[in-house]
Amino acid sequence: MTCFVAVFALLSGCDVGRPPHVGRPPHTWDRYPSQIETLAARTSPRDPLAESQYRGRAVYGQYCQICHGQHGAGDGFNSAMLDPPPRNFADEAFWKQTTDEQLVSVIKDGGAAHGKSKLMPAWGHTLSEQQVRDVITYLRMLPAEAKQAAAAAETTDSSQE
Ligand code: HEC
Repeated sequence: MTCFVAVFALLSGCDVGRPPHVGRPPHTWDRYPSQIETLAARTSPRDPLAESQYRGRAVYGQYCQICHGQHGAGDGFNSAMLDPPPRNFADEAFWKQTTDEQLVSVIKDGGAAHGKSKLMPAWGHTLSEQQVRDVITYLRMLPAEAKQAAAAAETTDSSQE
């Protein structure tokens, strides 16, 4: 029996066939079923977009979420201090009128350098170019993720009636 458990532990530790960056995210992010997980699960052998989103989500959780909020709505726990508050990244309209290059420079140089709030810090010395690109890839996914979450909530509501 002990032997069986040991063999099982060994086998499940192997995680064969998954790309190196794609594992389980920290459980705090599990509130909504995430597209990244879905995408990552299909990754065979590698999906550069899913991997970038996955890395971007980690960057976001570590550096941006405190102000921008768990789902990018501008409602992080720090946001009460921010005037103006960060915009809602889950709003599709924003993504239609902005480019990656604009976002790269706001993120690297900070708000003040772009006529925005100085409370948006400059990340150019903290994050690598790749991390900045990854976090943008992640942010671009937020409107779809918000829609998915809303649809899931609706299904739950109507099934309760
Ligand atoms: C200390 C709080 C704080 C943190 C941490 C923070 N931001 Fe911000 N961010 C802001 C505020 C406030 C604004 C709104 C600036 C304005 O509209 O004047 C903003 C604006 C932005 C914008 C500009 C959006 C627009 O309106 O064009 C981007 C992009 C952005 N943040 C990305 C990030 C990323 C990526 C991170 C993490 C690496 C991050 N922010 C971390 C406070 C923060």
